[in-house]
Amino acid sequence: MSKKVLALYYTQTGQLEEIVNSFTSPMEKAGVQVEKVRIQPLIDYPFPWTSDRFFNEMPESVLQIPFELKPFTFQHTVYDLVIFGYQPWFLSPSIPATSVLAHPAFQSVLKGTPVITLIGARNMWLNAQEVVKSKLNSCGAFIVANVVLTDKNNNIASAVSILHWMLSGKKERYLKLFPKPGVADTDIGNASFFGEMVLPYLEKNDWDGLQDTLILNHGLEVKPDLMFIESRASRLFSIWAHLIVKKKNRRPWIVLFKYYLLIALFIIAPIVLALNALLFKPFFQKQIERKRKYYLELN
Ligand SMILES: Cc1cc2nc3c(=O)[nH]c(=O)nc-3n(C[C@H](O)[C@H](O)[C@H](O)COP(=O)(O)O)c2cc1C
Repeated sequence: MSKKVLALYYTQTGQLEEIVNSFTSPMEKAGVQVEKVRIQPLIDYPFPWTSDRFFNEMPESVLQIPFELKPFTFQHTVYDLVIFGYQPWFLSPSIPATSVLAHPAFQSVLKGTPVITLIGARNMWLNAQEVVKSKLNSCGAFIVANVVLTDKNNNIASAVSILHWMLSGKKERYLKLFPKPGVADTDIGNASFFGEMVLPYLEKNDWDGLQDTLILNHGLEVKPDLMFIESRASRLFSIWAHLIVKKKNRRPWIVLFKYYLLIALFIIAPIVLALNALLFKPFFQKQIERKRKYYLELN
């Protein structure tokens, strides 16, 4: 198939790169010219993170403040499809993702081009995707599909295990009690099936029905409990971000935010979820389902 695809992504641990490779492998097998561009910050983030540095990225992530990237180039000026791989940071697009979306070279390639967003997240990506959608739309791109790979373990277990991974640099089962962090290897491998599904649409350059096919095949899922937590948390993060970004000495505020987040995640969220399940969820099924569908679909 003589088509040109640009797959652009940032990855810190390599997880998103594995996802991109798996997703694009059927395209490469079908003879599609897939150009992969891994963007890099001019000054890279530390890995493993220190705890202070990790939480220090919250305000810039939430307020979508871009930073400088290492120079990158594209082989072509026009592509049949762009695959934009990104990860959420603090319920917003990661800072490298925000930065490349603001980059004139990428914006020029996006104009008038079909885009598939390919997300590799822990489990909260809804708010980030809203931001990315609006940025892509304002560049004149049109989103034809969204594929999301997440850690499917329960919210608390996956939060503990990802924090262990990020702060130790080891992608291993914390204390041999918690699950392996990140997107499961089998799910990364299975991303190739979603890539395969894209082929007939790419060939015809007619994208009608692709997202429905992906939804049917669990190319993305929206869980009502996580949707509930995320919609509340994103508003609170925005308040914290606006407050902290103005502080001359932000370190004590970052430490405060860190403890707030740990308490909110491990203590408040389970209580709020239990109350919601008892008092509200049974009476608002239609609204919840409408919201869930909204996030599954493209608009
Ligand atoms: C600073 C930071 C904040 C993160 N915040 C979120 C988040 O809000 N929601 C989520 O699902 N995952 C979150 N993650 C996990 C990432 O989305 C991603 O899955 C993980 O960092 C691995 O991505 P990589 O390919 O860049 O290594 C966060 C990771 C980092 C480093």
